Amino acid sequence: MPTRRTILRGLALTTGAALTRKLPALAVEAHSLSDAAIARDPMRPQYHLLPAHGWMNDPCGPIYWRGRYHMFLQYNDAPVSGVKLWAHATSSDMIHWRRQPITLAPTPGGPDADGCWTGTAAVVDGKPAFLYTGVVKSPPEHATLRDGATYLRESVCMAIAEDEALLHWRKLPQPVIAAPPPGMQVTGFRDPSPWREGDGWYMVVASGQRGIGGMVLLYKSTDFHHWEYLHPLARGKWNGRQTDVVGSGEMWECPDFFPLDGKHVLIHSSEGRTLWQIGTLDRAAMLFHAESEGVLDHGAYYAPKSQLDAKGNRILWGWIQETRPQAEYSAAGWSGMMSLPRRLSIANGALVMTLAPEISSLRTAPRTGSAVKRLPTAAQEIRLTFEQGEVGSPAEHSFIDNQGAALLIRTGVPQPTTIRVNGREIPGDIEGPLDLHIFLDHSVAEIFINQRQVITQRYYSRTPMEPAVSVTIAAPCRITQQQAWSLKSIW
Ligand code: FRU
Repeated sequence: MPTRRTILRGLALTTGAALTRKLPALAVEAHSLSDAAIARDPMRPQYHLLPAHGWMNDPCGPIYWRGRYHMFLQYNDAPVSGVKLWAHATSSDMIHWRRQPITLAPTPGGPDADGCWTGTAAVVDGKPAFLYTGVVKSPPEHATLRDGATYLRESVCMAIAEDEALLHWRKLPQPVIAAPPPGMQVTGFRDPSPWREGDGWYMVVASGQRGIGGMVLLYKSTDFHHWEYLHPLARGKWNGRQTDVVGSGEMWECPDFFPLDGKHVLIHSSEGRTLWQIGTLDRAAMLFHAESEGVLDHGAYYAPKSQLDAKGNRILWGWIQETRPQAEYSAAGWSGMMSLPRRLSIANGALVMTLAPEISSLRTAPRTGSAVKRLPTAAQEIRLTFEQGEVGSPAEHSFIDNQGAALLIRTGVPQPTTIRVNGREIPGDIEGPLDLHIFLDHSVAEIFINQRQVITQRYYSRTPMEPAVSVTIAAPCRITQQQAWSLKSIW
């Protein structure tokens, strides 16, 4: 078996927020596992998109183009965060993926010499184009990202597709926006996200100010090349903590802004989590007024990005992180994966998230009733409906797969009415019937609760004493419907 040995060279790039989740890759001599050995790792998800080896984080520029889905993502070859490239994968259905060659890599001497960070795709004059973040090492006085150890200058860069398969891209040699608005001392300046409005373009850029809070800066353009700064479209508040600027809420990362069901939605990531806000866009003033908000996912999920699918549905992708120590994922040779595609809508002022129905193409071995509890593989979809209000005694429902105790659901645990997943309480209204839609994939569970609350849970061991995922429903209830399927590998 040939072994692949990757020695990470170059500097460690880590954003402020990332200190806990993106540890510097300095002096890391990476894994020596072959892709084939990595593919056999029992922790490897089988129906989530991820690179054959190495590190991934944010989805970048997902786009449906000429009948195919294209996903780009933050990537580097070693399994720890380092100098970022854009990896590429294509799909006909958002479920089955084929990996493609690297799309964007730093250009020596260019504005992205030290990394091609997160960005967005848009169709401009009939051709897909990216706006993305270029980073380059900088003296502190010119840096837009300063975390005490790393000084980087971020700018908004552009690349244009050169072929219909989106395999070749031409970068513009100069950034389209070289610096933050004059006079503004920003905590960061990245993750551009443009959209078309009338016969022009708008764009939000992730930013913030020290002691004030995170914000998304709004720009306007008529030709996608020349951008005029308007004002912050929305802003948050510093939480008062003296941590890095993302942890303290002084920097909002990865904004995504789009119309949905007659409203507008703003998504951003900060303070270790991702929030949605639903509200109104005042088009005269170009200001966003949030009317409701919530946590997009209560677990290991960050930096999502949306796109329209072939039918015009709004689909959201997110980065699922590792929650084990860096030494462990570094030894495993891979880190991170893409979430499953979530279809978004709005009901009663809340964001509704359901799995894109294309997932059903993976289903095999359907089961109902008590047969649901036997899970033939570690890749499963389980759907359970609970009726509340029955006076029931506490009950335990165990789901065992071929690697051990996968899922334990406890019901009827005394009030007050709450749901906890591996001890973490999930806020939200759980009155009335309860619907749990659970996707288990070897070391990850995506759990949808009444299509309103989602938690992405990682697990790396399972014993009968300690099942991988435990869901506790503190309410008198009983299961009224149960269905399960094994899900096929996408590779
Ligand atoms: C979010 C983020 C972005 C940045 C990228 C770098 O996870 O910090 O703000 O562009 O990762 O990989």
